[in-house]
Amino acid sequence: MADLHIVVLAAGKGTRMKSSVPKVLHRVAGKPMIGYVLDAAARLAPTTTTVVVGHQLDAVKAALPAHPGLRVVVQEPQLGTAHALLTTESVLQGAKGILVLLSGDVPLLSSDTLKTLVERHAATGAAATVVTALVQDPTGYGRIVRSGDQIARIVEEKDASPTERGIREVNGGIYAFTLDGLFDAVRSVAPDNAQSEYYLPDLVAVYRQQGRNVETITVSNSDEIQGINSRFELAAVSRIVRQTKNTELMAAGVTIEDPDTTYIDSGVEIGADTVIHPCVTIAGRTAIGSGCEIHSGVQVVDSLIGDRVTIRNHCVIAGASIAHDATVGPFTHLRPDVSIGEHAKVGNFVEMKNTVLGAGSKAMHLSYLGDTVIGSNVNVGAGTITCNYDGVRKHKTTIKDGAFIGSDTQLIAPVTVGEGAYVGTGTTIREDVPAGALAVSAGRQRNIEGWVEQKKKKAAK
Ligand code: UD1
Ligand code: CA
Repeated sequence: MADLHIVVLAAGKGTRMKSSVPKVLHRVAGKPMIGYVLDAAARLAPTTTTVVVGHQLDAVKAALPAHPGLRVVVQEPQLGTAHALLTTESVLQGAKGILVLLSGDVPLLSSDTLKTLVERHAATGAAATVVTALVQDPTGYGRIVRSGDQIARIVEEKDASPTERGIREVNGGIYAFTLDGLFDAVRSVAPDNAQSEYYLPDLVAVYRQQGRNVETITVSNSDEIQGINSRFELAAVSRIVRQTKNTELMAAGVTIEDPDTTYIDSGVEIGADTVIHPCVTIAGRTAIGSGCEIHSGVQVVDSLIGDRVTIRNHCVIAGASIAHDATVGPFTHLRPDVSIGEHAKVGNFVEMKNTVLGAGSKAMHLSYLGDTVIGSNVNVGAGTITCNYDGVRKHKTTIKDGAFIGSDTQLIAPVTVGEGAYVGTGTTIREDVPAGALAVSAGRQRNIEGWVEQKKKKAAK
């Protein structure tokens, strides 16, 4: 096989996005759109991969930690797609073989199509091979003008005649080029068009005039070449990605009650017989086991959830792990580094951060538990608060196995409640409680008989 070099164009301003963020960093189902392009490219095991970026070089580089071997070149100013390709000439000096050019804003192109593109290009020995598609609505794309079966040129929408605008075969913006002679040919592209830009698609006409062969491959699923130029198209492509993910999960045995309102990132794993109710978001690096039930309004991010876990409505769970058979919610907020043990139960209006809740333990109502290690079979009463922050530092609370924390307890950390200890309702714990002890801090109750009546009389005077 000939050497394969990949160039990804990502320097365009993305004017139509109306954004201060580079267009290729806008996220499609949780991942920057250029990440999809680079993932597909990586599957071809190319010799080199070069990304052409605009002024926000550092932002683009920082967003691509998963692609360490990339070469990045800056195109400044951005004078068009042909000009963008020219900026890679110096890094590709002496390179031989095939150059595959990808657009950072065309995320759904499959690696299978890329493989076909490379194979076809190598087999025909063409100077260029263009990926095309037949679409219902060609608006915005370059149109493929053929003479007989052969591609003759590509005309951009803004430069097209009314007849040419009627052509439904469009340019996907993805090409394979034979590197030999490529940059010289690109240099002969002139910016005489409606946008005064150097158009890479003009290379087709250049080659055809030179009598060189230009081939096309046409994708059967036009979603693959759907470009993203606006927020509207960003939403359209995101919808396709979501539907694909939901379809895969359903095929693997997950019940998704309403796929239209279920937002699951592509990297998420979910086991069979888990049921997902409407309006659920599952994002990032999340894995959910089998037989779980995730109710409406739940958002799960970067979390690990075991089997047969129930998450009731309107929970926000980020960076947590929840073991088998646990129950969470409704209205629970689990923040990073929370670990919920097997068969544990967390109820409404409970917030946890950096906290372990042991197996079989319960925190059912209105609590804040932060920087806390709770053993197994502990009962955390309603309104329990760990006072973990003294204004400067965070401190740890430890509650040992089998302890019982009465309602409305404040635990002023650092503090430890021993195994099996009882904390009376309304207690402020400032010192450690020994195992098996009862801790109470509230004063003895006093009733003043007739007090209300006397107060009323005083007010009337
Ligand atoms: C381009 C093609 C069009 C094709 C469509 C497919 C041109 C002139 N037109 O149009 O035929 O149907 O893609 O999606 O190529 N870029 C740079 N530097 C620049 C300009 C653009 O790196 O100076 C990058 C952009 O970031 C983008 C890609 O090249 O990733 C395509 O540019 P864009 O402006 O989106 O071209 P389209 O109008 O979509
Ligand atoms: Ca585009």
